[in-house]
Amino acid sequence: MGIQIIGAGMYVPETIVSNEDFAKIVDTSDEWITTRTGIKTRHIADGELAYQMGAKAALRALEDANMAVEQVDMVLVTTVTADCLTPSLACMIANEIGIEDAICMDINAACAGYVFALDIAKKYLDSGDLQTVLIVSAEMLTRMIDYTDRSTCVLFGDGAAATIVKKSDSLYASCIKSSPKGAMKIYTKLPEPKHPFQTKTYRWNDEDVAKAPIGMIQMAGNDVYKFATTAMPQAVELAAQKANISLDEIDLIIPHQANVRIINTAIKKLKLPPEKFYINIEEFGNISSACIPLGLAQLKAAGRLKQGDKICLVGFGAGLTYGAVIFEY
Ligand code: ACO
Repeated sequence: MGIQIIGAGMYVPETIVSNEDFAKIVDTSDEWITTRTGIKTRHIADGELAYQMGAKAALRALEDANMAVEQVDMVLVTTVTADCLTPSLACMIANEIGIEDAICMDINAACAGYVFALDIAKKYLDSGDLQTVLIVSAEMLTRMIDYTDRSTCVLFGDGAAATIVKKSDSLYASCIKSSPKGAMKIYTKLPEPKHPFQTKTYRWNDEDVAKAPIGMIQMAGNDVYKFATTAMPQAVELAAQKANISLDEIDLIIPHQANVRIINTAIKKLKLPPEKFYINIEEFGNISSACIPLGLAQLKAAGRLKQGDKICLVGFGAGLTYGAVIFEY
């Protein structure tokens, strides 16, 4: 049993920040950012929250699927930048768009979140317990960026994308993995608890983590780069093996958009034509888990997804997480 994506929608904030804009606030240049990352601009939230962006994308996906909110059985939200620690962003988005009765939960698998969510949705659909899953990937990376740190601030953007997923009889295979030994290669710390009964100091095992600022993304960029250039091709190969197809049979690959050089290395390792890879990093930068569904929504709106196409989605992110899904459209 496989899946079908019957609707897709996206929403990005109006405000666009260019590389030149960053050159005015940190020691960087359009030339460095373009050649090292492939990013030219990113959309940045200005006065709107993650649940509001997610709700807009969700309503667009429902409209695209010609579906009413009452038909949604489950809302899976992928995010690393929710508006509240509790409730889940899924409950907040469901409430915002008028869903009254559905299973709502968040999945935090960082930039690989959409691939993880699609696989979870597929397994729920397989169970026969429900018919329709709304996956919303809503991210506000600006929430946890240190705008004095040139090595991270230029990389990220904000936005949301949503898809409506149902079951089908078509091909489906997945390879969903984590490499937790890299857990602290990318992280954002919360403050330690403070309470009236406290007698001891909270201590992190790692000195660097202990010293890191609260609420700001920290990243060992080079280590993540090395991990990603191995993990992405490996996940695609394993998913293709499970699908029992050759890599050549894949029509389209939508990779996570963290760095165009990571994608180009994956293209070389997989020995596939570059035209099969969808790349939109130039406009949006890295929007964590929203990158892959945003690509899906753009391609669907442009009529570039054809029935029978074998599509591969592949992501990696903090955790470290990684994974690929192959399905027939
Ligand atoms: N402008 C100018 N110079 C810069 C900038 C900048 N914005 N950022 C870093 N530099 C400098 C560094 O200070 C360093 O200078 P030095 O040689 O004087 O020390 C030099 O450029 C080279 O730095 P590197 O870190 O080696 O640069 P690299 O080519 O590796 O690019 C980057 C850095 C873009 C972060 C890359 O390592 C990368 O893309 N890593 C992967 C990140 C990633 O995929 N994250 C995804 C997960 S995020 C999530 O899950 C939410």
